[in-house]
Amino acid sequence: MPATVVVGTQWGDEGKGRIIDNLAEKSQMVVRFQGGNNAGHTIVNEQGEFKFHIIPSGILYPHVTAVIGNGVVVDPRVLCEELDTLRDRGVSFDNLRLSGNAHLIMPYHILLDSAHETQLGKRKIGTTKRGIGPAYTDKAARLGIRVQDLLDKKILRQKLDTAIGEKNDLLEKVYNSPGVDRFEVMEQYAEYADRLSPYIADTSLLIDKALKRGEEVLFEGAQGCLLDIDHGTYPFVTSSNPIAGAACVGGGVGPTKINDVMGVCKAYTTRVGEGPFPTELTGELGDHFVNKGMEYGTTTGRKRRCGWLDLVILNYAVRLNGLTGLAITKLDVLSGLDQINVCSMYEYDHDGVQENYIDFPPHQSIFYHCQPVLQSLPGWKADISGVRKLADLPVEARDYLELISEEAGVPVKMVSVGPGRDELVEV
Ligand code: GDP
Ligand code: IMO
Ligand code: MG
Repeated sequence: MPATVVVGTQWGDEGKGRIIDNLAEKSQMVVRFQGGNNAGHTIVNEQGEFKFHIIPSGILYPHVTAVIGNGVVVDPRVLCEELDTLRDRGVSFDNLRLSGNAHLIMPYHILLDSAHETQLGKRKIGTTKRGIGPAYTDKAARLGIRVQDLLDKKILRQKLDTAIGEKNDLLEKVYNSPGVDRFEVMEQYAEYADRLSPYIADTSLLIDKALKRGEEVLFEGAQGCLLDIDHGTYPFVTSSNPIAGAACVGGGVGPTKINDVMGVCKAYTTRVGEGPFPTELTGELGDHFVNKGMEYGTTTGRKRRCGWLDLVILNYAVRLNGLTGLAITKLDVLSGLDQINVCSMYEYDHDGVQENYIDFPPHQSIFYHCQPVLQSLPGWKADISGVRKLADLPVEARDYLELISEEAGVPVKMVSVGPGRDELVEV
Protein backbone atom coordinates (compact mmCIF):
# COMPACT_ATOMS: atom_id res chain seq x y z
CA MET A 1 0.00 0.00 0.00
CA PRO A 2 -0.85 2.78 -0.92
CA ALA A 3 -0.89 1.45 -4.53
CA THR A 4 -1.50 -2.29 -4.68
CA VAL A 5 -2.15 -4.37 -7.78
CA VAL A 6 -4.20 -7.54 -7.35
CA VAL A 7 -3.77 -10.14 -10.11
CA GLY A 8 -4.74 -13.71 -10.90
CA THR A 9 -1.80 -16.12 -10.96
CA GLN A 10 -3.47 -18.95 -12.90
CA TRP A 11 -6.12 -19.09 -15.64
CA GLY A 12 -8.58 -16.73 -13.96
CA ASP A 13 -11.34 -17.28 -11.38
CA GLU A 14 -8.84 -17.48 -8.54
CA GLY A 15 -11.16 -15.46 -6.28
CA LYS A 16 -9.83 -12.00 -7.13
CA GLY A 17 -13.25 -10.39 -6.53
CA ARG A 18 -13.49 -11.57 -2.93
CA ILE A 19 -9.88 -10.57 -2.18
CA ILE A 20 -10.44 -7.10 -3.67
CA ASP A 21 -13.64 -6.80 -1.64
CA ASN A 22 -11.68 -7.53 1.50
CA LEU A 23 -8.82 -5.12 0.74
CA ALA A 24 -11.24 -2.42 -0.45
CA GLU A 25 -12.56 -1.93 3.06
CA LYS A 26 -9.37 -0.03 3.86
CA SER A 27 -8.92 1.59 0.42
CA GLN A 28 -10.31 4.74 -1.12
CA MET A 29 -10.19 3.72 -4.78
CA VAL A 30 -10.47 0.49 -6.82
CA VAL A 31 -9.41 0.58 -10.48
CA ARG A 32 -10.19 -2.09 -13.11
CA PHE A 33 -7.39 -1.80 -15.68
CA GLN A 34 -7.91 -4.40 -18.42
CA GLY A 35 -10.30 -6.95 -19.88
CA GLY A 36 -14.03 -6.48 -20.20
CA ASN A 37 -17.16 -8.36 -19.30
CA ASN A 38 -15.42 -11.66 -20.00
CA ALA A 39 -14.56 -11.35 -16.31
CA GLY A 40 -16.89 -12.54 -13.57
CA HIS A 41 -15.90 -11.51 -10.06
CA THR A 42 -17.98 -12.85 -7.18
CA ILE A 43 -18.47 -11.21 -3.81
CA VAL A 44 -20.58 -12.61 -1.01
CA ASN A 45 -21.50 -10.19 1.79
CA GLU A 46 -24.37 -9.77 4.22
CA GLN A 47 -26.59 -8.65 1.31
CA GLY A 48 -25.96 -11.91 -0.57
CA GLU A 49 -24.03 -12.68 -3.73
CA PHE A 50 -22.88 -10.11 -6.29
CA LYS A 51 -21.33 -11.02 -9.65
CA PHE A 52 -19.47 -8.18 -11.33
CA HIS A 53 -18.40 -8.37 -14.96
CA ILE A 54 -17.37 -4.80 -15.60
CA ILE A 55 -17.96 -2.73 -12.46
CA PRO A 56 -14.95 -2.74 -10.09
CA SER A 57 -15.35 -4.96 -7.04
CA GLY A 58 -14.96 -1.99 -4.65
CA ILE A 59 -18.37 -0.54 -5.56
CA LEU A 60 -20.07 -2.11 -2.54
CA TYR A 61 -18.31 0.30 -0.16
CA PRO A 62 -19.76 3.84 -0.24
CA HIS A 63 -16.36 5.32 0.68
CA VAL A 64 -14.63 3.75 -2.38
CA THR A 65 -14.35 5.45 -5.79
CA ALA A 66 -14.78 2.68 -8.37
CA VAL A 67 -12.84 3.41 -11.55
CA ILE A 68 -13.11 1.71 -14.93
CA GLY A 69 -9.73 2.55 -16.44
CA ASN A 70 -8.65 3.28 -20.01
CA GLY A 71 -7.33 -0.27 -20.52
CA VAL A 72 -10.79 -1.83 -20.17
CA VAL A 73 -13.13 -2.62 -23.07
CA VAL A 74 -16.64 -1.62 -22.05
CA ASP A 75 -19.90 -3.07 -23.31
CA PRO A 76 -22.26 -0.21 -22.36
CA ARG A 77 -25.29 -2.52 -22.46
CA VAL A 78 -23.74 -4.76 -19.81
CA LEU A 79 -22.56 -1.79 -17.76
CA CYS A 80 -26.09 -0.31 -17.76
CA GLU A 81 -27.54 -3.69 -16.75
CA GLU A 82 -25.09 -3.94 -13.85
CA LEU A 83 -26.03 -0.45 -12.75
CA ASP A 84 -29.72 -1.45 -12.85
CA THR A 85 -28.98 -4.47 -10.66
CA LEU A 86 -27.10 -2.33 -8.15
CA ARG A 87 -29.95 0.20 -8.08
CA ASP A 88 -32.51 -2.60 -7.53
CA ARG A 89 -30.43 -3.91 -4.62
CA GLY A 90 -30.10 -0.47 -3.06
CA VAL A 91 -26.36 -0.02 -3.75
CA SER A 92 -25.30 3.52 -4.65
CA PHE A 93 -23.03 3.97 -7.66
CA ASP A 94 -22.54 7.73 -7.52
CA ASN A 95 -18.90 6.92 -6.91
CA LEU A 96 -18.38 5.21 -10.31
CA ARG A 97 -15.95 6.82 -12.78
CA LEU A 98 -15.42 5.70 -16.37
CA SER A 99 -12.36 6.59 -18.44
CA GLY A 100 -13.06 8.49 -21.65
CA ASN A 101 -10.16 6.62 -23.23
CA ALA A 102 -11.64 3.16 -22.63
CA HIS A 103 -12.85 1.43 -25.80
CA LEU A 104 -16.43 0.41 -26.40
CA ILE A 105 -17.55 -3.09 -27.27
CA MET A 106 -19.98 -2.77 -30.18
CA PRO A 107 -22.68 -5.25 -31.29
CA TYR A 108 -20.56 -6.23 -34.32
CA HIS A 109 -17.67 -7.21 -32.03
CA ILE A 110 -19.91 -9.77 -30.34
CA LEU A 111 -21.12 -11.14 -33.69
CA LEU A 112 -17.54 -11.35 -34.98
CA ASP A 113 -16.33 -13.14 -31.83
CA SER A 114 -18.97 -15.86 -32.32
CA ALA A 115 -18.50 -16.07 -36.09
CA HIS A 116 -14.74 -16.49 -35.70
CA GLU A 117 -15.14 -19.22 -33.07
CA THR A 118 -17.59 -21.06 -35.34
CA GLN A 119 -15.18 -20.77 -38.23
CA LEU A 120 -12.31 -22.16 -36.13
CA GLY A 121 -14.43 -25.25 -35.36
CA LYS A 122 -12.34 -27.80 -33.44
CA ARG A 123 -9.49 -25.29 -33.15
CA LYS A 124 -11.70 -22.78 -31.31
CA ILE A 125 -10.33 -20.82 -28.34
CA GLY A 126 -13.44 -21.23 -26.22
CA THR A 127 -13.91 -17.48 -25.74
CA THR A 128 -16.68 -16.02 -23.65
CA LYS A 129 -18.18 -14.64 -26.90
CA ARG A 130 -18.44 -11.19 -25.35
CA GLY A 131 -16.63 -9.44 -28.23
CA ILE A 132 -13.41 -8.94 -26.26
CA GLY A 133 -10.93 -10.03 -28.95
CA PRO A 134 -12.55 -8.03 -31.79
CA ALA A 135 -12.79 -4.91 -29.58
CA TYR A 136 -9.08 -5.01 -28.71
CA THR A 137 -8.32 -5.75 -32.38
CA ASP A 138 -10.09 -2.52 -33.37
CA LYS A 139 -8.28 -0.61 -30.64
CA ALA A 140 -4.93 -1.67 -32.12
CA ALA A 141 -6.19 -1.05 -35.66
CA ARG A 142 -7.26 2.47 -34.64
CA LEU A 143 -10.80 1.71 -35.73
CA GLY A 144 -12.14 1.60 -32.19
CA ILE A 145 -14.90 3.75 -30.76
CA ARG A 146 -14.09 5.15 -27.35
CA VAL A 147 -16.16 6.12 -24.35
CA GLN A 148 -15.39 9.81 -25.01
CA ASP A 149 -16.98 9.49 -28.46
CA LEU A 150 -20.30 9.07 -26.65
CA LEU A 151 -20.03 12.72 -25.62
CA ASP A 152 -20.26 14.01 -29.19
CA LYS A 153 -23.09 12.45 -31.20
CA LYS A 154 -21.78 13.87 -34.49
CA ILE A 155 -18.39 12.21 -34.03
CA LEU A 156 -20.06 9.04 -32.81
CA ARG A 157 -22.15 8.89 -36.00
CA GLN A 158 -19.11 9.47 -38.23
CA LYS A 159 -17.03 6.81 -36.50
CA LEU A 160 -19.90 4.35 -36.51
CA ASP A 161 -20.44 4.88 -40.23
CA THR A 162 -16.83 4.00 -41.02
CA ALA A 163 -16.65 1.05 -38.64
CA ILE A 164 -20.05 -0.47 -39.50
CA GLY A 165 -19.35 -0.27 -43.23
CA GLU A 166 -16.20 -2.33 -42.77
CA LYS A 167 -17.61 -4.74 -40.18
CA ASN A 168 -20.79 -5.48 -42.13
CA ASP A 169 -18.67 -6.33 -45.16
CA LEU A 170 -16.66 -8.71 -43.01
CA LEU A 171 -19.71 -10.31 -41.39
CA GLU A 172 -21.68 -10.66 -44.62
CA LYS A 173 -18.97 -11.45 -47.17
CA VAL A 174 -16.43 -13.40 -45.14
CA TYR A 175 -18.54 -15.05 -42.43
CA ASN A 176 -21.79 -15.29 -44.37
CA SER A 177 -23.78 -13.94 -41.48
CA PRO A 178 -26.04 -10.89 -41.13
CA GLY A 179 -24.49 -7.52 -40.27
CA VAL A 180 -25.87 -4.87 -37.94
CA ASP A 181 -28.37 -2.08 -38.61
CA ARG A 182 -26.44 1.19 -38.35
CA PHE A 183 -29.48 3.27 -37.36
CA GLU A 184 -30.46 0.86 -34.63
CA VAL A 185 -26.90 0.84 -33.25
CA MET A 186 -26.71 4.63 -33.41
CA GLU A 187 -29.97 4.95 -31.49
CA GLN A 188 -28.95 2.39 -28.87
CA TYR A 189 -25.56 4.00 -28.29
CA ALA A 190 -27.09 7.48 -28.07
CA GLU A 191 -29.21 6.14 -25.18
CA TYR A 192 -26.15 4.65 -23.46
CA ALA A 193 -24.42 8.02 -23.94
CA ASP A 194 -27.18 9.81 -22.04
CA ARG A 195 -27.05 7.26 -19.26
CA LEU A 196 -23.26 7.02 -18.87
CA SER A 197 -22.12 10.61 -19.52
CA PRO A 198 -22.30 11.69 -15.86
CA TYR A 199 -19.69 9.07 -14.95
CA ILE A 200 -17.12 9.81 -17.67
CA ALA A 201 -13.93 11.32 -16.25
CA ASP A 202 -10.17 11.74 -16.67
CA THR A 203 -9.47 8.69 -14.54
CA SER A 204 -5.67 8.81 -14.82
CA LEU A 205 -5.80 12.26 -13.21
CA LEU A 206 -8.21 11.04 -10.52
CA ILE A 207 -5.86 8.18 -9.61
CA ASP A 208 -2.87 10.52 -9.51
CA LYS A 209 -4.70 12.92 -7.21
CA ALA A 210 -5.76 10.09 -4.91
CA LEU A 211 -2.17 8.83 -4.68
CA LYS A 212 -0.89 12.36 -4.00
CA ARG A 213 -3.38 12.64 -1.13
CA GLY A 214 -1.81 9.47 0.27
CA GLU A 215 -4.94 7.38 -0.31
CA GLU A 216 -4.94 3.63 -0.75
CA VAL A 217 -5.56 2.65 -4.37
CA LEU A 218 -6.21 -0.93 -5.47
CA PHE A 219 -5.78 -2.01 -9.08
CA GLU A 220 -8.12 -4.89 -9.86
CA GLY A 221 -6.85 -7.40 -12.41
CA ALA A 222 -9.21 -9.55 -14.41
CA GLN A 223 -8.42 -13.00 -15.87
CA GLY A 224 -5.02 -14.42 -14.91
CA CYS A 225 -1.37 -14.64 -15.81
CA LEU A 226 -1.70 -17.67 -18.09
CA LEU A 227 -4.41 -15.89 -20.11
CA ASP A 228 -2.04 -12.98 -20.83
CA ILE A 229 -1.82 -12.26 -24.55
CA ASP A 230 2.00 -11.98 -24.44
CA HIS A 231 2.97 -14.44 -21.72
CA GLY A 232 0.06 -16.88 -21.54
CA THR A 233 -0.80 -20.09 -23.34
CA TYR A 234 -1.22 -18.36 -26.72
CA PRO A 235 -3.46 -18.60 -28.71
CA PHE A 236 -5.65 -19.92 -25.86
CA VAL A 237 -5.54 -16.60 -24.05
CA THR A 238 -7.56 -13.42 -23.76
CA SER A 239 -6.76 -10.28 -25.78
CA SER A 240 -5.30 -8.11 -23.02
CA ASN A 241 -2.48 -8.24 -20.46
CA PRO A 242 -3.80 -9.37 -17.07
CA ILE A 243 -0.31 -9.12 -15.50
CA ALA A 244 0.60 -6.40 -13.00
CA GLY A 245 2.56 -4.21 -15.43
CA ALA A 246 -0.67 -3.57 -17.30
CA ALA A 247 -2.07 -1.74 -14.27
CA CYS A 248 0.20 1.18 -15.17
CA VAL A 249 -0.85 1.23 -18.83
CA GLY A 250 -4.52 0.52 -18.20
CA GLY A 251 -4.82 2.92 -15.28
CA GLY A 252 -2.55 5.67 -16.54
CA VAL A 253 0.07 5.70 -13.76
CA GLY A 254 3.84 5.29 -13.78
CA PRO A 255 5.46 2.06 -12.53
CA THR A 256 7.22 3.87 -9.67
CA LYS A 257 3.79 4.46 -8.09
CA ILE A 258 3.12 0.76 -7.47
CA ASN A 259 4.12 -0.47 -4.03
CA ASP A 260 2.70 -3.98 -3.76
CA VAL A 261 1.51 -6.76 -6.03
CA MET A 262 -0.79 -9.36 -4.51
CA GLY A 263 -1.13 -12.60 -6.48
CA VAL A 264 -4.38 -14.48 -5.97
CA CYS A 265 -3.85 -18.23 -6.21
CA LYS A 266 -6.49 -20.92 -5.84
CA ALA A 267 -5.32 -23.85 -3.66
CA TYR A 268 -5.75 -25.98 -6.82
CA THR A 269 -6.06 -25.00 -10.49
CA THR A 270 -9.00 -24.35 -12.79
CA ARG A 271 -9.37 -23.31 -16.40
CA VAL A 272 -12.38 -22.46 -18.60
CA GLY A 273 -12.13 -22.77 -22.37
CA GLU A 274 -9.66 -24.66 -24.53
CA GLY A 275 -5.89 -25.04 -24.27
CA PRO A 276 -3.19 -27.06 -22.48
CA PHE A 277 -3.46 -27.75 -18.73
CA PRO A 278 -0.75 -30.15 -17.43
CA THR A 279 -2.22 -30.92 -13.98
CA GLU A 280 -5.81 -31.36 -15.22
CA LEU A 281 -7.78 -34.12 -13.50
CA THR A 282 -10.61 -35.96 -15.12
CA GLY A 283 -12.85 -38.52 -13.45
CA GLU A 284 -13.74 -38.66 -9.77
CA LEU A 285 -11.04 -36.34 -8.45
CA GLY A 286 -11.81 -33.70 -11.05
CA ASP A 287 -15.47 -33.97 -10.03
CA HIS A 288 -14.51 -33.48 -6.37
CA PHE A 289 -13.21 -30.02 -7.22
CA VAL A 290 -16.09 -29.18 -9.55
CA ASN A 291 -18.71 -30.17 -6.98
CA LYS A 292 -17.08 -29.03 -3.75
CA GLY A 293 -15.61 -25.87 -5.26
CA MET A 294 -18.78 -25.21 -7.30
CA GLU A 295 -16.54 -24.70 -10.30
CA TYR A 296 -18.89 -23.32 -12.90
CA GLY A 297 -17.99 -20.16 -14.84
CA THR A 298 -19.31 -16.91 -13.35
CA THR A 299 -19.75 -15.40 -16.81
CA THR A 300 -20.72 -18.27 -19.10
CA GLY A 301 -21.82 -20.98 -16.64
CA ARG A 302 -19.44 -23.46 -18.28
CA LYS A 303 -18.04 -26.26 -16.10
CA ARG A 304 -14.46 -25.35 -15.20
CA ARG A 305 -11.68 -27.83 -15.84
CA CYS A 306 -9.94 -28.67 -12.54
CA GLY A 307 -6.52 -29.95 -11.50
CA TRP A 308 -3.77 -29.90 -8.87
CA LEU A 309 -1.86 -26.77 -7.93
CA ASP A 310 0.98 -26.13 -10.38
CA LEU A 311 4.06 -24.54 -8.80
CA VAL A 312 5.80 -24.10 -12.18
CA ILE A 313 2.94 -21.81 -13.13
CA LEU A 314 2.94 -20.07 -9.75
CA ASN A 315 6.65 -19.32 -10.07
CA TYR A 316 6.05 -17.97 -13.56
CA ALA A 317 3.38 -15.68 -12.08
CA VAL A 318 5.84 -14.55 -9.39
CA ARG A 319 8.34 -13.63 -12.11
CA LEU A 320 5.92 -11.91 -14.51
CA ASN A 321 4.10 -9.92 -11.85
CA GLY A 322 6.85 -9.25 -9.31
CA LEU A 323 4.55 -10.54 -6.58
CA THR A 324 5.11 -9.25 -3.06
CA GLY A 325 2.36 -11.33 -1.46
CA LEU A 326 0.07 -14.27 -2.08
CA ALA A 327 -3.62 -14.71 -1.30
CA ILE A 328 -4.47 -18.42 -1.25
CA THR A 329 -8.17 -19.05 -1.85
CA LYS A 330 -10.52 -22.02 -1.58
CA LEU A 331 -8.29 -23.95 0.83
CA ASP A 332 -11.52 -25.40 2.28
CA VAL A 333 -12.18 -27.23 -1.00
CA LEU A 334 -9.15 -29.49 -0.35
CA SER A 335 -10.61 -30.77 2.96
CA GLY A 336 -11.49 -34.45 2.92
CA LEU A 337 -8.79 -35.60 0.51
CA ASP A 338 -6.38 -38.33 1.68
CA GLN A 339 -3.55 -36.98 -0.43
CA ILE A 340 -2.92 -33.63 -2.02
CA ASN A 341 -0.65 -33.41 -5.03
CA VAL A 342 1.27 -30.42 -6.31
CA CYS A 343 3.24 -30.16 -9.51
CA SER A 344 6.83 -29.10 -8.85
CA MET A 345 8.34 -29.69 -12.30
CA TYR A 346 7.50 -30.77 -15.85
CA GLU A 347 8.97 -33.66 -17.80
CA TYR A 348 9.22 -33.23 -21.53
CA ASP A 349 10.01 -36.19 -23.73
CA HIS A 350 11.52 -34.99 -26.98
CA ASP A 351 12.33 -37.80 -29.48
CA GLY A 352 13.34 -40.08 -26.62
CA VAL A 353 15.39 -37.38 -24.87
CA GLN A 354 13.94 -36.31 -21.55
CA GLU A 355 14.20 -32.75 -20.33
CA ASN A 356 12.99 -31.34 -17.05
CA TYR A 357 11.44 -27.89 -16.69
CA ILE A 358 11.38 -26.10 -13.36
CA ASP A 359 10.74 -22.80 -15.12
CA PHE A 360 7.76 -22.31 -17.41
CA PRO A 361 8.74 -23.62 -20.87
CA PRO A 362 9.61 -20.90 -23.37
CA HIS A 363 7.54 -22.36 -26.22
CA GLN A 364 3.96 -23.57 -26.34
CA SER A 365 4.88 -26.64 -28.43
CA ILE A 366 6.94 -27.79 -25.42
CA PHE A 367 4.36 -26.80 -22.80
CA TYR A 368 1.68 -28.67 -24.71
CA HIS A 369 3.60 -31.94 -24.33
CA CYS A 370 4.81 -31.49 -20.75
CA GLN A 371 3.90 -34.07 -18.13
CA PRO A 372 3.59 -32.88 -14.54
CA VAL A 373 5.93 -34.34 -11.90
CA LEU A 374 3.75 -34.54 -8.80
CA GLN A 375 4.75 -34.28 -5.19
CA SER A 376 2.36 -35.87 -2.70
CA LEU A 377 1.39 -34.39 0.65
CA PRO A 378 -0.95 -35.75 3.32
CA GLY A 379 -4.42 -34.23 3.27
CA TRP A 380 -6.71 -33.36 6.18
CA LYS A 381 -10.24 -34.43 7.02
CA ALA A 382 -11.54 -31.59 9.19
CA ASP A 383 -13.88 -28.95 7.81
CA ILE A 384 -11.79 -25.76 7.99
CA SER A 385 -14.41 -23.25 6.85
CA GLY A 386 -14.88 -22.02 10.43
CA VAL A 387 -11.16 -21.47 11.08
CA ARG A 388 -10.07 -17.83 11.48
CA LYS A 389 -6.56 -18.22 12.94
CA LEU A 390 -3.62 -19.83 11.18
CA ALA A 391 -2.70 -21.81 14.30
CA ASP A 392 -6.17 -23.43 14.28
CA LEU A 393 -5.70 -24.96 10.82
CA PRO A 394 -4.79 -28.68 10.72
CA VAL A 395 -1.00 -29.10 10.59
CA GLU A 396 -1.29 -30.61 7.09
CA ALA A 397 -3.01 -27.45 5.83
CA ARG A 398 -0.34 -25.26 7.42
CA ASP A 399 2.38 -27.40 5.84
CA TYR A 400 0.67 -27.01 2.47
CA LEU A 401 0.65 -23.22 2.81
CA GLU A 402 4.28 -23.24 3.92
CA LEU A 403 5.29 -25.31 0.92
CA ILE A 404 3.57 -22.88 -1.44
CA SER A 405 5.18 -19.86 0.16
CA GLU A 406 8.65 -21.48 0.23
CA GLU A 407 8.51 -22.67 -3.37
CA ALA A 408 7.22 -19.30 -4.59
CA GLY A 409 9.60 -17.31 -2.41
CA VAL A 410 6.70 -14.99 -1.56
CA PRO A 411 4.85 -14.73 1.78
CA VAL A 412 1.27 -15.92 2.04
CA LYS A 413 -0.56 -12.84 3.31
CA MET A 414 -4.18 -13.94 3.04
CA VAL A 415 -5.96 -17.32 3.15
CA SER A 416 -9.64 -17.82 2.41
CA VAL A 417 -11.69 -20.80 3.52
CA GLY A 418 -15.13 -19.87 2.18
CA PRO A 419 -16.78 -17.38 -0.18
CA GLY A 420 -18.14 -15.10 2.57
CA ARG A 421 -16.59 -11.77 3.51
CA ASP A 422 -15.49 -13.02 6.94
CA GLU A 423 -14.30 -16.45 5.80
CA LEU A 424 -10.65 -15.48 5.93
CA VAL A 425 -7.84 -16.88 8.07
CA GLU A 426 -5.75 -14.23 9.78
CA VAL A 427 -2.13 -14.62 8.73
P1 GDP B 1 -12.56 -14.21 -9.80
O1 GDP B 1 -12.96 -14.16 -11.23
O2 GDP B 1 -11.08 -14.41 -9.63
O3 GDP B 1 -13.05 -13.04 -9.00
O4 GDP B 1 -13.24 -15.50 -9.18
P2 GDP B 1 -14.76 -15.99 -9.44
O5 GDP B 1 -15.67 -15.13 -8.67
O6 GDP B 1 -15.03 -16.17 -10.88
O7 GDP B 1 -14.69 -17.46 -8.85
C1 GDP B 1 -14.40 -17.72 -7.52
C2 GDP B 1 -15.57 -18.51 -6.90
O8 GDP B 1 -15.15 -19.11 -5.68
C3 GDP B 1 -16.73 -17.63 -6.53
O9 GDP B 1 -17.92 -18.36 -6.66
C4 GDP B 1 -16.47 -17.28 -5.06
O10 GDP B 1 -17.65 -16.97 -4.32
C5 GDP B 1 -15.88 -18.57 -4.57
N1 GDP B 1 -14.88 -18.43 -3.52
C6 GDP B 1 -13.96 -17.45 -3.34
N2 GDP B 1 -13.15 -17.72 -2.31
C7 GDP B 1 -13.55 -18.91 -1.81
C8 GDP B 1 -13.09 -19.76 -0.74
O11 GDP B 1 -12.12 -19.48 -0.04
N3 GDP B 1 -13.78 -20.93 -0.56
C9 GDP B 1 -14.84 -21.31 -1.32
N4 GDP B 1 -15.42 -22.47 -1.07
N5 GDP B 1 -15.30 -20.53 -2.31
C10 GDP B 1 -14.67 -19.36 -2.56
P1 IMO C 1 -12.02 -13.59 -14.45
O1 IMO C 1 -11.66 -12.13 -14.35
C1 IMO C 1 -11.58 -17.38 -16.54
C2 IMO C 1 -11.00 -17.20 -20.89
C3 IMO C 1 -12.10 -17.76 -21.76
C4 IMO C 1 -11.28 -18.27 -22.92
C5 IMO C 1 -10.20 -17.21 -23.07
C6 IMO C 1 -10.48 -16.15 -24.12
O2 IMO C 1 -13.38 -13.91 -13.97
O3 IMO C 1 -10.94 -14.42 -13.84
P2 IMO C 1 -12.14 -14.08 -24.20
O4 IMO C 1 -13.64 -14.02 -24.09
O5 IMO C 1 -11.42 -13.29 -23.15
O6 IMO C 1 -11.65 -13.76 -25.58
O7 IMO C 1 -11.79 -15.64 -23.97
O8 IMO C 1 -10.09 -16.59 -21.80
N1 IMO C 1 -11.41 -16.17 -19.92
C7 IMO C 1 -11.54 -16.38 -18.59
N2 IMO C 1 -11.41 -17.52 -17.88
N3 IMO C 1 -11.85 -16.23 -15.91
C8 IMO C 1 -11.95 -15.07 -16.62
O9 IMO C 1 -12.07 -13.86 -16.04
C9 IMO C 1 -11.83 -15.12 -18.04
N4 IMO C 1 -11.91 -14.21 -19.02
C10 IMO C 1 -11.63 -14.85 -20.16
O10 IMO C 1 -12.80 -18.78 -21.11
O11 IMO C 1 -10.67 -19.48 -22.59
MG1 MG D 1 -14.24 -15.11 -12.56
